[in-house]
Amino acid sequence: MIIARSAQELREALSTKNGSVGFVPTMGALHIGHRTLIERARRENDVVVVSIFVNPTQFLPGEDLSKYPRREEADFKICELSGVDVLFYPDVNAMYGDDEVRIVAPDVRGYILEGASRPGHFDGVLTVVMKLLNIVRPARAYFGKKDAQQLVLITQMCENFFMDVTVIPCDTVRENDGLALSSRNVYLSVSERNDALKLSASLKRSTKLVMQGTLDACTIKEQMLAILEPLDVEYVAIVNRSFESIEQVIIGNTIILVAARVGTTRLIDNVWM
Ligand code: PAJ
Repeated sequence: MIIARSAQELREALSTKNGSVGFVPTMGALHIGHRTLIERARRENDVVVVSIFVNPTQFLPGEDLSKYPRREEADFKICELSGVDVLFYPDVNAMYGDDEVRIVAPDVRGYILEGASRPGHFDGVLTVVMKLLNIVRPARAYFGKKDAQQLVLITQMCENFFMDVTVIPCDTVRENDGLALSSRNVYLSVSERNDALKLSASLKRSTKLVMQGTLDACTIKEQMLAILEPLDVEYVAIVNRSFESIEQVIIGNTIILVAARVGTTRLIDNVWM
């Protein structure tokens, strides 16, 4: 596995490889969710590139940028064992200069839900993903449905800017008890982890209701909130795949999302139906 620390080093590394490039952008502290994306990229491409970069522009003041988990040695090993060809591991100076051009998330989709709780977050995500895609120039880029709004916005950016990349949505990987894997789960104490299960439990309830024929969004949200109630809930939302709020679930075009704080840790989860 080659480790590239600048755009130029990455280009040089890729010039020695032939075939289609699959790319998995990450912020490190890799878990089985990330590994599943990497393994899929491995199956579907000749060359696999993973980036690890804790992108400062997507963290708001007061968020966990400085304490975001960093696991260099373990991450390198996971990448190597997963068959990554090139690991892109830049520092902040290799990615950003002063007073740069930025990508701005669309007004509606970029500033509701996650964008309302974290205004400007998606501007930072889209800017860094644009940079990363331009550096790596992959045929396919892999993103998790766990970050549903991020995935939808990145897909839209690639369409709006006529970018020559296929965005591949990947299913959310969960622990056996339902907790969606997240690098931020390491912040949870044992009792908080137990509380965090309420997010996936509420989504399980929503799926069951829909399977039983309850499609009314208000009813589903009420039942979810009854499970989530002890937590500090930021939002429960039912939207279509364009992130427009809907009153009735449309099978095949609905995402049910939840965001809540467990202790000081902010968690998100969702189901696509
Ligand atoms: P990060 O949180 O490290 O996630 C990297 C990728 O892994 C994202 O596409 C995310 O949706 C996916 N992922 C995370 N948890 C997952 C799970 N349990 N199952 C499946 N996929 C999962 O998302 C980011 O980094 C950053 O915003 C980034 C896109 C790299 C831009 O900085």
